[in-house]
Amino acid sequence: MSLAPLSVVIKGTGSYKPENIQTNDDLAKKVDTSDEWIFTRTGIRERRIAADNEHASDMGAKAAEKALADAGMEAADIDIVIVATITPDMPFPSTACLVQTKLGIPNAMCMDIEAACSGFLYIMEVAASLIKTGRYRNALIIGSEKLSSILDWEDRTTCVLFGDGAGAAILSGSDEPEVGVIDFKLGADGANGEVLYMPGGGSANPATPASIDNRLHFLKMRGREVFKLAVKVMQQAAEEILEQNGLKSDQLACVIPHQANLRIIELLSSRLDIPMDRFYLNLENYGNTSAASIPIAMDEAFRVGRIKSGDLVLLVAFGAGLTWGAALVKCP
Ligand code: COA
Repeated sequence: MSLAPLSVVIKGTGSYKPENIQTNDDLAKKVDTSDEWIFTRTGIRERRIAADNEHASDMGAKAAEKALADAGMEAADIDIVIVATITPDMPFPSTACLVQTKLGIPNAMCMDIEAACSGFLYIMEVAASLIKTGRYRNALIIGSEKLSSILDWEDRTTCVLFGDGAGAAILSGSDEPEVGVIDFKLGADGANGEVLYMPGGGSANPATPASIDNRLHFLKMRGREVFKLAVKVMQQAAEEILEQNGLKSDQLACVIPHQANLRIIELLSSRLDIPMDRFYLNLENYGNTSAASIPIAMDEAFRVGRIKSGDLVLLVAFGAGLTWGAALVKCP
């Protein structure tokens, strides 16, 4: 029997963004919109769009290679691969199995978990819990999305908000107590599922000529309702995780929110009484990349020195489901 570790730490991070940049002005040539409308309502200026032959597993594998290098590990060190995605390469096999093959990971437990934009926090909790059993050593967790493949490029109310990309992290057991992934507060409310969903492509509406004519294979959203719910559930998750750990918001060195909309984050900042300069933001450049949003932002925050040793960091997200989550991380 293996010994359970005292903590689970983030050993390395990596991210991958496709080369192709689509600006708001580019979008204005496709649908009736403008840079001014998009930027003032969302804070987004541009997003990345994956190439036709570049899928969730390709982007995930590229982010994972960087995370492995950052951790100083090799493929053979990994014994869990979990991918969070709503845009898997295909319904099965899992994107995690495809990533495993692309990286040459010899033997690992591999699975996808779908919790939309909260997905990375969900897989972080699952991977950390598995490592804490002592039966696994190192988990590769990846958020990867090719949202451009499920956007209705004729619907200006949705296609302007999202982008493609991938972020990855390596979680490992450690003998140092009270560091790393400290706590989680995850939740969901399925009754609010239809504010943001994709009706086609599953067993309820498999692909047929009618489902395609009715545009069921595209993301649908009731934006205003999502906006209000997002602020509410992220505030709640953040307050609950701080309270259950006896912490005050001014003890947080950095907050990494799901990068959906600057106005949502500004409202969250005022409700939590955490100044905006403590939030790490990159949505101006990438838009909302769903499950990839938090790991891309976290990777960048480490790289530009926004997160340092000893820092307490709050990750907070919401997404389709409706799902939400908060995680507290203390850097060793
Ligand atoms: N360009 C120009 N006009 C647009 C537009 C676009 N891309 N999208 C919508 N409009 C129009 C609407 O048609 C509407 O016109 P009308 O008043 O003539 O009917 C007007 O702009 C206002 O639309 P509304 O939906 O009320 O705007 P809003 O201020 O609520 O902003 C969102 C829309 C989508 C930016 C906002 O609701 C939002 O960000 N919601 C959260 C979405 C989100 O984060 N989703 C991801 C969850 S993980």
